[in-house]
Amino acid sequence: MTTNPRKKIIIDTDPGQDDAVAILLALASPELEVLGLTTVAGNVPLALTSRNALMVCELAGRRDIPVYAGADRPLLKPLVTAEFVHGKTGLDGPTLPEPTLALADGHAVDFLIDTLMHEDRVTLCPLGPLTNIALALAREPRIAARIERIVLMGGGGFEGGNITPAAEFNIYVDPQAADLVFRSGVPITMAPLDVTHQALTTRARVAAIRALGTPLGEAVALWLEFFERFDEQKYGQEGGPLHDPCVIAWLLRPELFTGRDCHVAIETASPLTQGMTVIDWWGVTGKPANAHVLGGLDADGFYALITERLARLG
Ligand code: RIB
Ligand code: CA
Repeated sequence: MTTNPRKKIIIDTDPGQDDAVAILLALASPELEVLGLTTVAGNVPLALTSRNALMVCELAGRRDIPVYAGADRPLLKPLVTAEFVHGKTGLDGPTLPEPTLALADGHAVDFLIDTLMHEDRVTLCPLGPLTNIALALAREPRIAARIERIVLMGGGGFEGGNITPAAEFNIYVDPQAADLVFRSGVPITMAPLDVTHQALTTRARVAAIRALGTPLGEAVALWLEFFERFDEQKYGQEGGPLHDPCVIAWLLRPELFTGRDCHVAIETASPLTQGMTVIDWWGVTGKPANAHVLGGLDADGFYALITERLARLG
């Protein structure tokens, strides 16, 4: 029986507790070959997202994973960060040692271009603002035809926005970058708030992760308990949406999700709605689909996958 070849991925990230769980899920999954992490300013400034990415790799015992620092600001807009959600370090919750790992030499955008020009069938997994991805596409347009797929967390449809009434944070921080990515012609799978808001960190789900009885399980439980408090207060429900692991879970178990191919456009100009993802869910524009947009989630299956895989990291 032929086994599926491992899927080569690069995770572009702004850790962020939910980014951290997504990275751990990827590193725990033999179906995936993580070629590297690229960091971007988003939840917290670049120096912290880079430090946090190194910490997560060390926590996973994966000192072999190269981490490249990327853009420290959006293409045009001033940087907006989200310490009010993620804490001042971006990974508030547990007390973890400072990373002993160093960043890889070179810029994240150069790593993206070099890797994509030399490796076939690489999937990009952006979990933060799309600045690095847009810079790579602008610097070397030939990569567009070489990227296997971009599977990203970002945008809002029926859920609207979370940083403004109209816009989700990752797209809002750099709408110009998102516009370039969605116009690139690269196959896209999009995990918007419509689906991530179904992935709530309920008490039972966090307890199952803590019950792993490992230092990593405890760290993740403490991350989630810190991360969820803002959204619990905001939305008035038990648990917070665990956004970024939806990207990795879709790669591993697409059957946990439902979705449809849609045209998606990004508002870049309006002061009122900039960063809004205009998802043509009902196909009323007649414009060709440029993204597979996720809409439904088997949340219990999602958390069972995460918990089972975290157990493998010990
Ligand atoms: O809006 C949620 C997204 O913004 C997640 O990726 C979270 O980590 C933040 O980057
Ligand atoms: Ca993120």
